[in-house]
Amino acid sequence: MRRVALGLACLAVVLVGQATPSRPSHAAVYARYAVAADHPLASDAGARVLAAGGNAADAAAATMLALGVVSPASSGLGGGGFALYYRASDRSLTFLDFRETAPGAATNDMFARREGDTDEVAAQRSMTGGLAVAVPGEPAGIDALIARFGSRRVTRAQIASHAERYAREGFAVSRYVSDSSRVALALLRGDTLLAGWLGADGIAQGARITNPQLAATLRTFGRQGAAPFYRGAIARAIVDAVSARGGVMTAEDLAGYAVRERTPISRDAFGRRWVSAPPPSAGGITMLQSLALLEAWQPEGGWREGAAFRHALTQSWIGSYVDRAAYLGDPDHADVPTAALLADDRIARRAAIFDRDRALPAERWELPLAPDETRAPSAPPSDHGTSHLCVVDEEGNIAAVTTTVNLLFGARVSAAGMVLNDEMDDFARELGAPNAFGLPGGAANLPRPGARPVSSMAPTIVFEGSRPVMCVGASGGSRIPTATEQVALVSLLFDAEIGEAMSRPRVHQQGSPATTLVERGVDTGTRLALWRRGHDVSETPTVANVQTIRIVRRDGVVELHAASDPRKDGEPRGE
Ligand code: GLY
Repeated sequence: MRRVALGLACLAVVLVGQATPSRPSHAAVYARYAVAADHPLASDAGARVLAAGGNAADAAAATMLALGVVSPASSGLGGGGFALYYRASDRSLTFLDFRETAPGAATNDMFARREGDTDEVAAQRSMTGGLAVAVPGEPAGIDALIARFGSRRVTRAQIASHAERYAREGFAVSRYVSDSSRVALALLRGDTLLAGWLGADGIAQGARITNPQLAATLRTFGRQGAAPFYRGAIARAIVDAVSARGGVMTAEDLAGYAVRERTPISRDAFGRRWVSAPPPSAGGITMLQSLALLEAWQPEGGWREGAAFRHALTQSWIGSYVDRAAYLGDPDHADVPTAALLADDRIARRAAIFDRDRALPAERWELPLAPDETRAPSAPPSDHGTSHLCVVDEEGNIAAVTTTVNLLFGARVSAAGMVLNDEMDDFARELGAPNAFGLPGGAANLPRPGARPVSSMAPTIVFEGSRPVMCVGASGGSRIPTATEQVALVSLLFDAEIGEAMSRPRVHQQGSPATTLVERGVDTGTRLALWRRGHDVSETPTVANVQTIRIVRRDGVVELHAASDPRKDGEPRGE
């Protein structure tokens, strides 16, 4: 594939907590089509499908399938996700929700602390083993994307062939997968497939591994689509693997799974229209609320990058995390007041809380809904086993897709070569109990039969007038919306080249815990200025991993500026 490497000068890149010079391969400009995923082989699979005549939907499907092979810590057929699709021919925007669902035997208190539980045992029940696994949505989601929007110029078997080849012939383990295996080392040993990849010290970076079982599963997907994953041999393998590890999922749970089509949410801010994920994601609401507040707080002459802007960013997010704990759940199972949460008068009331010189605690950002606004009880969650990808094709179609198995290597249980998700941990384990990311659990997000847990995933497309100008999204749990928004703003507002926007150090704040997180690259002056405003500043290795494609029009010529986050090994591909 032809690649025009960007002539980026010196980028301050944060690589797993370490500032290193950027590798220019993380950003490139293409003329016809582009794919940005967080693994080069996955981007490559998508680009090959585009080269063979496929469109953005076909390429996104190929990229997702490939990610499940080469990046099994972060996504795969045993997981689920969201796709925001822009079809250029009729300018339509469709949101496919293929998130995992709780099994029929789920109960509100299934993860409540039991007598004699240590903290670790109580927490692990929703993270590792059979009970942690929710009904996978990824096979149905990929099938729906192809059926609904695919070009029909490439077959499903062609789309799956790249992933199948990686699984059969093997691939070199990336730094990210190797590091991830060390984080979850002891837990991976409980599964035959995963344990087979491990050395004493995890999965070695650069080691060549294969997954013949997954190759067979992918071949089945190529021939028959999603059906065997929900009724048939693969469904049986999933139920058996989950039951053997203490889970409650049944064949009926799988047979009853359905992709949901939802209306994306959107809002105007900074002269652009931002379209993103609706509930059960909280990520879109977080980003849209924040953008509206930042616009309201904009100083004369507009924002400039610096401490004042970063202070405002942190303050713009806290209220939305408070709202998430109070109101978010699966809209098919709880009354989620999405419109009310984004209403102008509510944004205006929250805008008035802001103090330019002082960081305010989460309690100050609480804002009850007006009495006539629909109200649902509380909820939140997060992850690290997630992956975002963007595709723009030659016709102008755009796929923004975020997929997940939740935590690294999901439930650390495999079936038919697939890593099964632990998405049950995205439900609230108990009212008020913080999850792995410190977000308090709420009633609307307690596990219930057939419900989908609240997500942070925020696949997003930004428009100027009627034209799309950016596809963007991230992986990284509760930090997904804040990272997505920062990259988009730095690129669109401050006009930074996309590779550079991606590399700029980020901040994160979610109210609870009250700490303002800064990446290592945030300079001392900014840290000091935040500290003077009362921020409890703490350094974090990374604030999520972003993939993006900016669509630039110069004299009627389209340029696709694609970038994959150097924090996670990705590289874009295109032509
Ligand atoms: N499991 C990641 C998320 O949905 O936010």
